[in-house]
Amino acid sequence: MNYLIDDEIIERVRSSSDIVEIISQYITLKKTGSNYTGLCPFHSEKTPSFTVSPAKQFYHCFGCGEGGDVISFIMKEENLSFPEAVKLLADRLGIIIEEKDDPKSRELKKKKELIYKINKDAARFFYQSLYNNEMGLAYLKKRSIDKKTMNKFGIGFADSSWDSLYRHLINKGYAEKDLESAGLIIKRKDSSGFYDRFRNRIIFPIIDTNRKVLAFGGRIIDSSMPKYLNSPETSVFLKGNNLFGLNIVNQETDRSKIVLVEGYMDVISLYNNGINYCVASLGTAFTLNQAKILKKFNDEIYICYDSDLAGFKATDRAMDILKEEGINAKVILLPSGKDPDDFVSERGKKGFEELLKDSLNYIDFKIRYIKTKYNFNEVEGKIQFAKEMGKFLKEIDSPIERDVFLDKIVLETGISKEAILKEFSSKFNRMTYTEDKYIKNKYRNNKDKIIPVKNVLEPAHLKAEKCIIYLIAKNEKIFKKIKDKLSPEDFLNYECRELAEFIFSSYEENQIINLKELYTHFHEIEDIDDNKMMEILNQNINISEEDIDSLIEDLIETIIYSKLKHRRNEITSEISIFESKKDKNERDVERFKQLCIELLEIDRKMN
Ligand code: UTP
Ligand code: MN
Repeated sequence: MNYLIDDEIIERVRSSSDIVEIISQYITLKKTGSNYTGLCPFHSEKTPSFTVSPAKQFYHCFGCGEGGDVISFIMKEENLSFPEAVKLLADRLGIIIEEKDDPKSRELKKKKELIYKINKDAARFFYQSLYNNEMGLAYLKKRSIDKKTMNKFGIGFADSSWDSLYRHLINKGYAEKDLESAGLIIKRKDSSGFYDRFRNRIIFPIIDTNRKVLAFGGRIIDSSMPKYLNSPETSVFLKGNNLFGLNIVNQETDRSKIVLVEGYMDVISLYNNGINYCVASLGTAFTLNQAKILKKFNDEIYICYDSDLAGFKATDRAMDILKEEGINAKVILLPSGKDPDDFVSERGKKGFEELLKDSLNYIDFKIRYIKTKYNFNEVEGKIQFAKEMGKFLKEIDSPIERDVFLDKIVLETGISKEAILKEFSSKFNRMTYTEDKYIKNKYRNNKDKIIPVKNVLEPAHLKAEKCIIYLIAKNEKIFKKIKDKLSPEDFLNYECRELAEFIFSSYEENQIINLKELYTHFHEIEDIDDNKMMEILNQNINISEEDIDSLIEDLIETIIYSKLKHRRNEITSEISIFESKKDKNERDVERFKQLCIELLEIDRKMN
């Protein structure tokens, strides 16, 4: 929501805040030379390694590597989003951030109304185009979607002409810039005009409960990439704040239950088969805001994501997020490798309803999921499993539930209840999640609540990625040192990888990189977590010429090693899923062989 606060105000807040004064309100700082030092608020330490530089208006901790400017300090310390942190500082400084009914907000409101109108006209156009185009209809027929469903969702078609929507809307009198801000047209690189964003795609309008068209998703009808394309974020479409299909659930059902699925086609195909209570989180990670929306509808939420590794991970995370909102979601488990669309197309409404009856509760799902991560043929695997499960004991408030849970761990592992209890009673109070602070922040918009997000990069690994990115962005010489050893694909963190791709190609095209421009460039791009960008680009790494080579060597090693380890975990999980499967087909066996070969190769490299 950064764009709601004027850049100029952000700059004013930044430049009027004295970082030493602000940080002193949180920790005791002592002057040492030209800087100030104190005990780091972000990790526990006995001797001060937290440094604040009044000259640079930066802080940096040599212990844990945290660093940034006054705004990022407030974000971290108060667990606030970027605009919230700016607001807090502005309030303290007496800078007024214009409130809702100022001319600016009125203008924004007008702009939103215009985009809704454009979207509605575009949706009508796509809808009509569908009936003028055999290819679109043929595709939907192939996927067995009937007329009633098509109409219900307002499904449309974008032809492959590059400008038919553009021409239609311009003829209706809309301005290019407004169509562009609705995300429907894109400026050509050589600035010679615009072209339609959606081409040769089945169009799914995303409609809210007030029947306003927020955005569009489009599925390609041939095998081109990407398979799905979505509207970018616009002033009416904030990613992670909407769910596809909510308008239908709102209109058509008693809302007594809602099933959360991954994709457009899942919602549509389920509806087509008589299951009209589904919404999709649209491929992006499920967010706390989406959980809040669902909560308003009902407390009985089912998750039915694709039955693959990515789907399990996403389910695990969505469950934790829903739990955080006080919703005890259940999980509908599909046969391996299937998505809801595949399943309901094969087995129909009845089949799906039966599956829903067998859905797993929080604990049972956790057990299933965590089990896939360990090798149960080895004692060590069982112990690790029991240890990880033990973390959840702490979360369960009811003693009865806890006991049931314990029994289940015993049953799964064969380890005695006494031993498990003993293992955890001593640690009970000390137990915390290993969380990735940065990712954690992304799912947090309530100050007091922390949602553990698992399966993320280890801190050292993330730190290494961030550090390398920062160093190569700042210094082309360093880039030259690493460019033959690392490639952008080696970065696992999303923001780091995007930055790496940009930096690598910029240098290859002999362009100079400027951190501020880099930030501005990515600020415009959807999907990019602004906070994370700040974390990366605002680092304050001081390293002498002599130390640089060994630092780089260390960082590269960490990244490569972690990447191998990450892949190794994926493989072993998939192998244990395979091993627990009852009927294994030929394809499974083939895949299993491949995985084993890859595993051997990885182990060789890691050694
Ligand atoms: P899937 O790849 O699981 O597609 O993406 P699907 O729902 O099974 O689609 P079909 O059956 O092949 O048509 C699930 C969701 O992830 C998002 C979309 O929202 C999609 O509905 N996604 C997927 C994208 O945004 N972009 C992509 O390239 C792929
Ligand atoms: Mn599918």
